[in-house]
Amino acid sequence: MRVDVAFTPEESANGPVGIVVDVLRATSTIVQALASGYRRVLCCAEVDEAIALRDEIGDAVLAGERLAASIPGFDLGNSPRDFLEPLGETLILTTTNGTRAVIAAAARCDVVLIASLLNLEAVAAAARARGKDVAVVCAGVEGERAIDDAYCAGRIAELLDGERTGAAEEALSISRSFSSAKEALEASGNPRQRDLGEDIAWCARESVYAVVPTFAGMRGATAEVVVLT
Ligand code: MLT
Repeated sequence: MRVDVAFTPEESANGPVGIVVDVLRATSTIVQALASGYRRVLCCAEVDEAIALRDEIGDAVLAGERLAASIPGFDLGNSPRDFLEPLGETLILTTTNGTRAVIAAAARCDVVLIASLLNLEAVAAAARARGKDVAVVCAGVEGERAIDDAYCAGRIAELLDGERTGAAEEALSISRSFSSAKEALEASGNPRQRDLGEDIAWCARESVYAVVPTFAGMRGATAEVVVLT
């Protein structure tokens, strides 16, 4: 198995199995929502698309953020701590970077898994079980690398223990330069991410859930993510 890493969705990383990472906070939120009992997450790139989808479906929870702030008229923001109890079966989510990274990975990988620190070991086990080359796709922040994602990518690369590309080795060395996940998340370079308060500690918890959110198909321009049973 070969393990490659794209530090942003614009970088190329090749592999039939894509693993999308946006630790602060989109993929942590997707993992938390599905672990809490939501049945599916519909990942939208645009706010208008998310609103139109909710109008179409009717019975769905509308959530997300732009530039880390809540979106007016939405039911919830993008804090994983808002998703401890399901408020419905379907969550429609749109975020600045993370939901777009899911859609980008879905366009170029055969299989797409959603990773965060919250489900680190479960995702690594699921990718190992597939036995195919892996591309870890980090959401980053508006086209720039994010330390939280690079840290998580490095941890995944370490757990997969395959043949690592140069980018995967770089991610591994970034992850090894921190003594804990929390330290890595606190070091995140984006000023907005420094204001996430208790979400940092929440998202830094490792392997607390066994769910592996998996891309199930496109619904128009929206990527549907579920836990396969
Ligand atoms: C994103 O998708 O850009 C993030 O998850 C940002 C955030 O949660 O604030």
